Amino acid sequence: MKQKNLTILAIETSCDDTGISIIKCKSKSEKRKAVFEILSNIVSSQVKIHAQYGGVYPLLAKREHQKNLPTVLKKALRQAKLSLTEIDLIAVTVGPGLEPCLWQGINFAKELSQKLKVKLIPVNHIEAHILANWLDKKQETRNKKQIFPAIALIVSGGHTQLILMKDFGKYKILGETRDDAAGECFDKTARVLGLGYPGGPAIEVEASKSDRGPSSISLPRPMIYHKNYDFSFSGLKTAVLYYHKNQPEKIKKSPKYIQAMAAEIQQAIIDVLIFKTIKAAKEHKVKSIILGGGVIANNELKKQFKAHFSKLKLNLLAPPKKFCTDNGVMIAITGYYNYLRRKTVKPKKLEADANLRLK
Ligand code: KG4
Ligand code: ZN
Repeated sequence: MKQKNLTILAIETSCDDTGISIIKCKSKSEKRKAVFEILSNIVSSQVKIHAQYGGVYPLLAKREHQKNLPTVLKKALRQAKLSLTEIDLIAVTVGPGLEPCLWQGINFAKELSQKLKVKLIPVNHIEAHILANWLDKKQETRNKKQIFPAIALIVSGGHTQLILMKDFGKYKILGETRDDAAGECFDKTARVLGLGYPGGPAIEVEASKSDRGPSSISLPRPMIYHKNYDFSFSGLKTAVLYYHKNQPEKIKKSPKYIQAMAAEIQQAIIDVLIFKTIKAAKEHKVKSIILGGGVIANNELKKQFKAHFSKLKLNLLAPPKKFCTDNGVMIAITGYYNYLRRKTVKPKKLEADANLRLK
């Protein structure tokens, strides 16, 4: 394939964020060692709309995407100082995610690609959370042999997966959640405690204020010692619900109690994620751990992962905070790698797949 600089426009609408980004990819001598320049990154969050439901309401999210997409596109072009005619490729999330939301982004991408006569690239949202790490300048100097094989841990509002990554495009899901995702657990337990939505950042703030004395609350670490790599977080949510229900009203309102609960919920989730990731890393003798997804925005989680994996002398990759949660930049980067793998499709063939899986 002839190498050239590419300007990619990427669209993300798999959940409640409408994201459009434009990036420039400059390939170096080796194709995989591209330099990515972010020309624009616009994310229109629907958090305020869904806050009243304590979670994402799919049909409302779909309507918002439809309303937001033309405005977000205008803003992205303005920020990039580009006109539509300068776009070489369009990348779009096709799954996994909420089907009505995915279709909004896909139909918008199809129309644009037909109008501009440029190619379309489908992107897997989970792969995009992994490849968000390739934004890091350090990645330019690392070669594949230094990174792979790797274990990727993707933890978001919709997913919790441990993945063995042997190369770009070579994945094996080792385990995943059997019920709630880790982010969902943060969101639901925050709601029980009367904290805001999304729950992850709200719990992180409360947890950071806690001094966690000796009489601290003790919550379960579900499936931590199970032989497989699956997770289950609904039991933790139920434990929080019952523990909280049984507290006297006065305690329920006490800031110290809320802070201690938040700290224990956060720690229970971190403990399970670290334990299983270490186990997978040792079993598969990997060189790196790659983190991604909204929950990785949690500073305490990142700090504890760093402490464990520096002891094991493994590379630990985590995206900058603003690229952990959903955004168009990660879709654009993944679009670039998919383009190298000749994954372009005709508009007619582009379809949403709510349950799309990495392989
Ligand atoms: O990746 P993401 O933006 O969307 C999905 O693909 O689901 O992840 C959103 C999830 C929410 O559940 C949110 O509570 C969680 O990420 N999250 C956090 C933090 N920031 C976002 N969880 C823990 N700590 C945070 N600081
Ligand atoms: Zn996501």
